[in-house]
Amino acid sequence: MRNVWQKKDISLLVAEADGGSKGLKRTIGTTGLIALGIGAIIGAGLFTSTAEAIGYHTGPAVSISFLIAGIGCALAGLCYAEFASMIPIAGSAYTYAYATMGEFIAWIIGWDLVLEYGVASAKVATSWSEYLNKLLGNLFHIQIPYRWSHSPFQQSAEGVQGIMNIPALFIILLLSLVLIRGVRGSSLVNGVIVIIKVGIVLLFIGFGWSFIDSANYAPYLPANTGASGEFGWSGIFAGAGVVFFAFIGFDAVSTAAQEAKDPQRDMPKGILLSLLICVVLYILFAHVLSGVANYKEFQTMGQEASVTYVIDTYMHGYGWLSTLVTVAILAGFSSVILVMLMGQSRVFFSMSKDGLVPPVFSQLHNKFKTPWKSNILFFIFVGIIAAFVPASIISDMTVIGTLFAFVLVCLGIIILRKSNPEIPRPFRTPWVPLVPILGVVVCTGLIYTLGPANWLRLIVWLVIGVVIYFAYGVKRSTLQKKKS
Ligand code: ALA
Repeated sequence: MRNVWQKKDISLLVAEADGGSKGLKRTIGTTGLIALGIGAIIGAGLFTSTAEAIGYHTGPAVSISFLIAGIGCALAGLCYAEFASMIPIAGSAYTYAYATMGEFIAWIIGWDLVLEYGVASAKVATSWSEYLNKLLGNLFHIQIPYRWSHSPFQQSAEGVQGIMNIPALFIILLLSLVLIRGVRGSSLVNGVIVIIKVGIVLLFIGFGWSFIDSANYAPYLPANTGASGEFGWSGIFAGAGVVFFAFIGFDAVSTAAQEAKDPQRDMPKGILLSLLICVVLYILFAHVLSGVANYKEFQTMGQEASVTYVIDTYMHGYGWLSTLVTVAILAGFSSVILVMLMGQSRVFFSMSKDGLVPPVFSQLHNKFKTPWKSNILFFIFVGIIAAFVPASIISDMTVIGTLFAFVLVCLGIIILRKSNPEIPRPFRTPWVPLVPILGVVVCTGLIYTLGPANWLRLIVWLVIGVVIYFAYGVKRSTLQKKKS
């Protein structure tokens, strides 16, 4: 008789993590982990969603939305940190759920994380494609034709229909190859990109500050238009749902636990510090962006490439900064995609070891010791989405999938404190159960702001997952086999 609620023993999990030569190599230190976090966090969310939230939901009060989304992430982050220090194994929330809530919920989370890591990287790749075209236009006065840089569901103002997004596909291919080459190489690349990315955000804040026109802060929170989510307090919460995308990725740090040199000390640091740094940078960045230009401009001219627009229009004498920003944004997007793709392959690595997905996802390359076949398969999956699906459709899916995973992680902490109080916890989430309960409340509230269409999409995705589990995973699960 199969028991889909069967839990994985934590000591077994930890023993598996030290799987000797068959395991992944332990090469990443504290700084590497923080860089990994920031690498995944700052990206399309900051450079595109901020303007969207300002223009349509919050006005200059977007900083409050960032704060709310940041608080939701911090609460979930504290729970992630306890798990990551206690169960330092590749697989992130999936692995934690296997130990606390049983195989079925673990599968649901693992399946759900495909939305977070896989689908998010596709969205960022489409944004990368947009900015690449902008850069080519600015520097060399050339453009990749519209039809080869947009999905078939998009049409230009002149009526040109997209066919496929080749630049998006290209960047996914390039970064998949970097990952196959190995994590040491990729964390080096990532570290350099993170420095550039943070540098450019600081430059924008520093130079932009003196161009703030206080008139743009009046009103700070424009009155609600009558429709829910359009300004006023409902707008602040809707805006928090939109900018939440900008925080996605800090949990990717936890997927690298098996490659961390000292996971128990470094995991919580990696997660929480990268999150903290980003919350501060975001709030300052949003404050400057909405102070230099009026919020209404983000509904029209300033909607696309908002940062470049603001610099070109208001910060005279800073043309060099706008080119630099575009280059940095391209690099920044690349690091996001890199970490997301890595997170994705690591989650499937664990799921494959457990027999829930085919063995091909955990076969390591002889020389590079990376799950290269998994990288190739995810290149195909993510590449197809990036090439053929418009970003707007996939962004909300990513957010709702992530929020759902966060809710389960918060619940997992409460469950594990009761079921296994004896396990050593190098990092303890403070004020349990208050912190996890607040995490559940904030994340569920944000799910609510995303509306029925997104709830339905999430449900459909999860139903597909359940069907796959009962058709494949439940029969091949290593744990089920061991115990039967
Ligand atoms: N947080 C990441 C970004 O904004 C996913 O691109």
